[in-house]
Amino acid sequence: MPKNLREALKGQLSDEELKQLGRAFDVIGNIAVVKLPDGLLPKKHLIGEALMQVHRHVRTVLRQTSAVRGEFRTRELELIAGEPETETTYHESGCSFKVDLAKVYFSPRLAHERLRIAQLVKPGETVTNLFAGAGCYSVVIAKHGQASRVYSIDKNPAAFDYMQENIRINKVGDRVVPILGDAREVIESRLKGKADRVLMPLPELAREFFDVALLALKPEGGVVHFYDFGEELELFAPSLKFARAAAAAKGRKVELLESRAIRSYATRVYHVVLDLKIS
Ligand SMILES: C[S@@+](CC[C@H](N)C(=O)[O-])C[C@H]1O[C@@H](n2cnc3c(N)ncnc32)[C@H](O)[C@@H]1O
Repeated sequence: MPKNLREALKGQLSDEELKQLGRAFDVIGNIAVVKLPDGLLPKKHLIGEALMQVHRHVRTVLRQTSAVRGEFRTRELELIAGEPETETTYHESGCSFKVDLAKVYFSPRLAHERLRIAQLVKPGETVTNLFAGAGCYSVVIAKHGQASRVYSIDKNPAAFDYMQENIRINKVGDRVVPILGDAREVIESRLKGKADRVLMPLPELAREFFDVALLALKPEGGVVHFYDFGEELELFAPSLKFARAAAAAKGRKVELLESRAIRSYATRVYHVVLDLKIS
């Protein structure tokens, strides 16, 4: 049995093609998702079969054919090897997540960040997750943190269905409240001033929704996990400047507790998070 993808493809791909392959794949439960440069497209089926040889539990290999896009942050996928399936169950930090990769956003690369946030939650906190997807942050927080309540909002009906299922599978229904709807409308109509901590894990909308995060916090303040994009030479300063100005406009103050680059997003652009104490 080949030890790795390169070994499995030796003799079938040239050295140049092997170099292009990199490690551009994620294994999510029994599905592997690959991103291939155009030059490797004629070899996509070979690559898919090789992935299944190396990762014996993988039953399906999908090629990502579009960027993550649209309001629901989903992507187009094409079957290149194995069974035609897009639903899978993924295990992370002692939790199980069922997701349909074609209908709902999911990234195993955020596992560390999800656990980091969960470990910051203090006993009895109320947490509001504005962009919860299939509920991964919310469930990990409920399992590992000691939150008394986690409001878990998403606008995508498919994500909401999986969120409900994941709350059930992980037995956190006494703490996690799934809510289908637009985060702004939900906060304004029923969740104003309730949270000790607000998560906004959608960098594309985080600035537009920063006022919503402030509105969701208790009047005395709390913590906002503000996910944004940062450029290499000034990773965090523009995000912090934005947050300070946006908070000041609402009569609030910001103290930076922590800043981290989570992963590379594009050339010299990173997905970053700022943990902000708002008072
Ligand atoms: C990057 S994903 C969140 C991923 C999730 N936190 C996780 O760990 O898997 C962003 C989510 O925000 C949702 N979304 C987009 N606009 C929204 C809005 N206005 N209100 C609520 N949810 C929204 C999308 O449907 C998507 O599921």
